[in-house]
Amino acid sequence: MNEKKEVGEKAVEYVKDGMVVGLGTGSTVFYTIMELGQLVQQGLSIKGVPTSEQTKQLAIELGIPLVSFNEIEQIDVAIDGADELDSELNLIKGGGGALLREKIIAAAAKTFIVVADSSKNVDTLGTFPLPIEVVPFGYEMTAKHIRKLGGSPKLRMKDGTPYRTDNGNYIIDSSFQEITQSRELEKSLNLIPGVVDNGLFVDMADIVITIKDKKLSTIVRS
Ligand code: A5P
Repeated sequence: MNEKKEVGEKAVEYVKDGMVVGLGTGSTVFYTIMELGQLVQQGLSIKGVPTSEQTKQLAIELGIPLVSFNEIEQIDVAIDGADELDSELNLIKGGGGALLREKIIAAAAKTFIVVADSSKNVDTLGTFPLPIEVVPFGYEMTAKHIRKLGGSPKLRMKDGTPYRTDNGNYIIDSSFQEITQSRELEKSLNLIPGVVDNGLFVDMADIVITIKDKKLSTIVRS
């Protein structure tokens, strides 16, 4: 069973004709976007808002029309993956580095749908190092502040140089072991000068499509 494909394709059921759709980033939502591309070829009329340059490119290749923020009031549905997901539907995101645009788009969506294979389900968030987007200036000092909050910050590297997000920023990946106070940590991190945003998505997911006991499972926030 290709779990990513199962959950990714299932999410398409929530997309209706005429909707503005937030298009996430990663290997799970890839299947959603591929399916949407096919439906667009068959006549579905939607407008996409991509969460990364990579997704933008994919959407263009598939012929999914894109729309900019100044042309819309809100996004009807945003669909995206996750790196970790707890039972309260809180998430760690940003493994692919797109967390800032992902959060902006999720926050603008009436309905935010998360597609996650079974490996993403955890009891407590924090095993996956939390991605934190920081401005390059003074990042060493920003990392020290993150350490004071209990993290083990590491600058993300790519090909021997610091990884750059689509926004030109750095990513600090920081393990926190167990994140029991996700809302508090999300806020405390964002108060550090130099932090742009972090990959904790608290109380944002409306619907989660995942695999439990080898079966598709759709969880709706109550
Ligand atoms: C991108 O920055 C991330 O937030 C992804 O949504 C997340 O890493 C999930 O990716 P996969 O679907 O590839 O596991």
